[in-house]
Amino acid sequence: MKLLVTGGAGFIGSAFIRMAIAETDWRVVNFDKLTYAGNLENLAPVEGDERYRFVRADICDERAVDAALAEETPDAIVHFAAESHVDRSILSPEPVIQTNFRGTFTLLEAARRRGIGRFLHVSTDEVYGSLEPPLAATEEFPLNPSSPYSASKAGSDLLARSYFVTFRLPVVVTRASNNYGPYQFPEKLIPLMVANALEDRPLPVYGDGMQIRDWLHVEDHCRGILAALGKGRDGEIYNIGGNRALPNSEVVRKVLALTGKPETLIQHVADRPGHDRRYALVSDKLTGETGWRPEMEFETGLADTIEWYRANPGWVARVRSGEYRAYYEQNYGKRTAAG
Ligand code: NAD
Ligand code: DAU
Repeated sequence: MKLLVTGGAGFIGSAFIRMAIAETDWRVVNFDKLTYAGNLENLAPVEGDERYRFVRADICDERAVDAALAEETPDAIVHFAAESHVDRSILSPEPVIQTNFRGTFTLLEAARRRGIGRFLHVSTDEVYGSLEPPLAATEEFPLNPSSPYSASKAGSDLLARSYFVTFRLPVVVTRASNNYGPYQFPEKLIPLMVANALEDRPLPVYGDGMQIRDWLHVEDHCRGILAALGKGRDGEIYNIGGNRALPNSEVVRKVLALTGKPETLIQHVADRPGHDRRYALVSDKLTGETGWRPEMEFETGLADTIEWYRANPGWVARVRSGEYRAYYEQNYGKRTAAG
């Protein structure tokens, strides 16, 4: 089996490649542009393995995509590459349209031309939009995205499925909830709060902090993708939820307790525009068809994640480069305290 993985230098893609190389005998080609979020340090454990190859290129570059598929003739594409951060998509919406929508289109077209045997599109629970309790989305729920990021993911998710309906390209779509774990870029809630807490900096909680997310350990997500890749049916959508819904304030308090830092570090700041209050998923379809279920208990996964950040201050310092500082200032510098 040979895989072409897009976005394999990011948080989830790199976890997927590390797992695929460690636990299978597959060959994996990592196709990644190395944006601010791409980091080859995340792949140090597989670098040098003869079953792993890195290609630096943009999924919007039709020629580069074609060349990689021609050279490698993969059995399947696992498509992670995206601009993945909601706040950045609010500050500047253009990149999500380009990479998430246009880039997915470029890959789908190339896959269609080459007759790729499976195209796994990694989507997100954000496509369902905010759900009032007690609603939880099954795969049949209507899509109702709120941010440029989630709208671009909804568009690419629907486009991917249309390539199955129209062209019979063997597409599978997975929609996962909020991931956490080692190597996550510290722009997302958990790594940002951990990195700030470890340095006694304020922890910026948007609005009242009562927004609810369903937390999924990145390794549980990768196992869900492997299950859908191997056993999922063509043209089907599979939710991958962590089954652990928590308000942000509770997550932040757990981070403070585990790092031994005081709750006085919490700073409520102006809310994210269009902020979704709650995501919730039903993942029974993937469990029923493949036996997959999330296994990592949140408190254990969070403690392990914090230990990883504690043990890797060099990784954190390097990713919090000039670009990160500029982004941090742009997103948080002018955020007034929440009333
Ligand atoms: P990330 O931001 O950590 O990594 C994205 C990767 O894609 C980076 O390596 C980057 O260099 C690469 N990339 C970006 N634009 C590219 C382009 N034009 N061409 C080639 N490579 C490009 O993202 P992540 O958190 O690992 O998310 C991966 C995927 O999973 C995304 O599709 C995201 O929408 C989806 N997802 C994420 C979560 C989550 O909680 N993080 C949950 C559900 C689904
Ligand atoms: O649900 C899946 C999605 O999860 C993925 O599709 C996205 O790629 C991923 O970024 C994530 O989106 P969220 O917007 O839910 O994640 P984020 O970590 O940015 O925020 C989680 C919650 O924490 C959200 O309610 C906003 C809040 N938050 C976030 C940050 C960065 C804060 O209160 N303060 C912050 O500084």
